[in-house]
Amino acid sequence: MRFDTNCGGVPACQNTPMGLRSSPRIAAIPRYEAGLTTADVLAAYGLDAAVKLASNESPFPPLPEVEEVVSSGIGALNRYPDPPARLLRAALADRHGVEPGQVVIGNGSCELILLAGQALLDPGTTVIHADPSFSLYPHLASASGAEGIAVPLAPDGSHDLDTMAAMIDERTRLVVICNPNNPTGVFVPPEAIESFLQAIPGDIAVLVDEAYFDFVARPDAGRVMSLARTTPNLLVTRTFSKAHGLCGLRLGYGVGGHEWVAALDQVRQPFNTNALAQAAALESLQHPEAFIQRTEAIVAERRRVVAALEEMGISSPPSEANFVLIDAQSGWHEQLLRAGVIVRDGRALGAPGTLRVSIGLPAENDAFLAALSTLVSGQLRT
Ligand SMILES: Cc1ncc(COP(=O)(O)O)c(C=O)c1O
Repeated sequence: MRFDTNCGGVPACQNTPMGLRSSPRIAAIPRYEAGLTTADVLAAYGLDAAVKLASNESPFPPLPEVEEVVSSGIGALNRYPDPPARLLRAALADRHGVEPGQVVIGNGSCELILLAGQALLDPGTTVIHADPSFSLYPHLASASGAEGIAVPLAPDGSHDLDTMAAMIDERTRLVVICNPNNPTGVFVPPEAIESFLQAIPGDIAVLVDEAYFDFVARPDAGRVMSLARTTPNLLVTRTFSKAHGLCGLRLGYGVGGHEWVAALDQVRQPFNTNALAQAAALESLQHPEAFIQRTEAIVAERRRVVAALEEMGISSPPSEANFVLIDAQSGWHEQLLRAGVIVRDGRALGAPGTLRVSIGLPAENDAFLAALSTLVSGQLRT
């Protein structure tokens, strides 16, 4: 048998160094730079302990009732999960006042964002998003061969929605808005998103990524989700990874137009979310008091951390998320690691000269503030 090494003249096929016939699109996909684990840092710096404030995780473990449901579900893992996650879909539909056909469940909201690229983009089309914003968005264009249009954030760290609307043309298929934005934490007021939706053609899909919604301390925070009930071209994604503390299980969801949801359901693999994640998410929704207590604790800590930063003369954009982005001197990231405080270097997030610091438990935040204060006072002496 003889294989044709020029791929039969198909231009999308190239020989990689390993000799595989693969798409040139693979090389264009930005590599995700994983953050350091606690184990990495302990080993590298010879430390006994470190606090991890780098991945915008919840510092709280899952609720005891959720742990119980996960433990008891292990015995049934010889069975496939329910492909459409009917119980969870119905519960989320009920919660958001929509039909089950307006809810799509993903293996983390990241999966839904990637599926949006698969479902909507082709070579010759465009996807518009802010920059810097969540590192996954540039992936959508690269993976599909579409063109990604990265619109710089406004100087205050918020989305420049006017410019994003102006970039829409006949090639545009998808616009992604991250609210609050990762890594700045800045919240776009819902009325600005409403005006944006009214200003653009109704056949352009808009995805509003509300991964950090639960930490937004504003009475109008839920308005974009309300719009998703009746705006066919809008999908709002949320996640159980952050405030529900379930990122290790991977469960996200989207609510929006029927056509949007059907498109994502069409491209997802049938068993995309696992049985334990479905059960855990369903259980976590049953404990609103504990959930609110935990999110309020994070918001209170965010306020305390921001006040302490201001006292040190360190500025950060106003954050409505479970993290803050601070201006930083070069070398601070490394020095914080040495002090056992793991934060995310802004260079990996498209925001050089900054550090993104997740809000943790009071003692963890104190450890960060104490280490930072040492750096700031050292810097002031020089
Ligand atoms: C803006 C944003 N969207 C989505 C996600 C992904 O969350 P999930 O764990 O649901 O895939 C993250 C995770 O950090 C994020 O920052």
